[in-house]
Amino acid sequence: MNRPPVIIANWKMHKTRHQAQECIHHLKIQLSIDFSGVYIAAPYTAIEACASMKLPNLVIGAQNVSEHAFGAYTGEVCAEMLKDLQVGFCLIGHSERRTYFHETSEQIRQKILRCLEANIQPILCIGETLQQRHNNQTNDVLFSQISSALSKLSAQDVSQVSLAYEPVWAIGSGVAASPDAVQNIHAECRAYIQKIWGKTCSDHIRILYGGSVNLQTLAEIISQKDVDGVLVGGASLDADMFANIIKISRELKS
Ligand code: PGA
Repeated sequence: MNRPPVIIANWKMHKTRHQAQECIHHLKIQLSIDFSGVYIAAPYTAIEACASMKLPNLVIGAQNVSEHAFGAYTGEVCAEMLKDLQVGFCLIGHSERRTYFHETSEQIRQKILRCLEANIQPILCIGETLQQRHNNQTNDVLFSQISSALSKLSAQDVSQVSLAYEPVWAIGSGVAASPDAVQNIHAECRAYIQKIWGKTCSDHIRILYGGSVNLQTLAEIISQKDVDGVLVGGASLDADMFANIIKISRELKS
C-alpha cells in the first residue's frame, strides 16, 4: 500500500505571526516550493498568517480544538472557526494536553467528531508513559486510546484519521523509541485497526511517529515499513533543520 509520507511540525507555544511567516519563507527556499506532505501545526494566533502565504500543498493545522460545536465556552476555539481559517488538520489528544489540561478520552472522542464534521483531518496522538512501558502495558494503553477515541466511527470515517504514536517518555527528552520498537508497535496498531475496521481502512490509515525526532534519530525510524511520517516538535522550530527532515523523509520513503 502506497502511503506518501507526511511530515508534521508541531510548533507548540512558539512563534509569533512574523516568526511563523519567516520560518515558512525559509522552508519555501529550502524545499524549492515543494510542500507536498508538509503539515504545520501552528499556534492559533499564527494560523491565518501562515495560511495567507497560500503555498500550494502546504497544509496548515491547529494543535487543539474545542469538543463543543459552539457556545458559551470562554477561551475556546471550535472546528468551524478553524475551518474558516483554512485549517486542514488538527492534532487531537497530544500528551501535553492529556497531562497538563486533563483531557479525557470522551473529550478526545468529541474533538475527533467535531473535526470530521468540519472536514478537518484529525491526527490522533497516542502514547504510553514510562511506567506503563515498564509494566508491559504499552499495547493495552495504545489500543484503549484508539478504541475510545474512535469508538462508533465507521471505517470510512476512521480512514480520514491519522495516528501519531508518541511515547510520552520520548517527547522532548532527546531519547526516541528504538526503530524496531516503533515498527513493532505501529504494526500492532495497524493490526488492531484491521481487526475492528477492516483491511481497507488499516491499509489506508497513516501511522506517524513522534518523540525526539531529529537529524540523528530520523533515518532509521522513517525507514520502517509501518512508519508513514513523523511528528516533529523541537526540531521543527528551525527551518533549516525541519527542511532537512522533510528531504530525508521523502528520500527514504520514495
Ligand atoms: P519533540 O516533540 O519532537 O520535541 O520530542 C514531539 C511532539 O510533542 O509532538
